[in-house]
Amino acid sequence: METTLIILKPDAVQRGLMGRIIGRFEDKGLQVVGCKLMQISQELAAQHYKDHAGKPFYAGLVKFMTSSPVLVLALRGNGAIAIARGMMGATFGSKAAAGTIRGDFGVSNSFNLIHGSDSPEAATRELGLFFKSGEVLDFKRASECWIYDMSGGKPE
Ligand code: RTP
Ligand code: MG
Repeated sequence: METTLIILKPDAVQRGLMGRIIGRFEDKGLQVVGCKLMQISQELAAQHYKDHAGKPFYAGLVKFMTSSPVLVLALRGNGAIAIARGMMGATFGSKAAAGTIRGDFGVSNSFNLIHGSDSPEAATRELGLFFKSGEVLDFKRASECWIYDMSGGKPE
């Protein structure tokens, strides 16, 4: 099972889209194992987006991410990282396909609603930035045996 870090960005929170976006992930079968409404500091934004430091869009990106509260989620599932990225859609709202979160809920390229970890290494690093020890929970869902075929001993 993988766990990925999702951020519902300031535009998603301000536009009242949190419930609908979380609902999509729940409908898919991903498990919410961490959830927190928070204000991102300059320092945290800089750590989170350190790979983009120096790029032309970096200053605007940090300004946007620190402009208003965000909702951070830890989502767990088999292949959760790639599944969440697929559900998010292409980076720019103007290019994101219909049926994806960015494709269905926005048109802006910079106000693109959602962040999701792009690799297992990024997920581990980002979960550590946004969640303290004990804030990501391990618990069994009653529905688990209907979300995954467990007949082979592992989730399929
Ligand atoms: P994110 O990290 O936010 O999940 O988005 P992403 O993987 O789809 O895109 P990434 O390349 O990591 O870029 C991070 C954020 O920077 C802004 N961006 N602007 N103007 C540009 O060329 C440009 N490129 C990226 C976007 O807000 C993107 O979400
Ligand atoms: Mg990225």
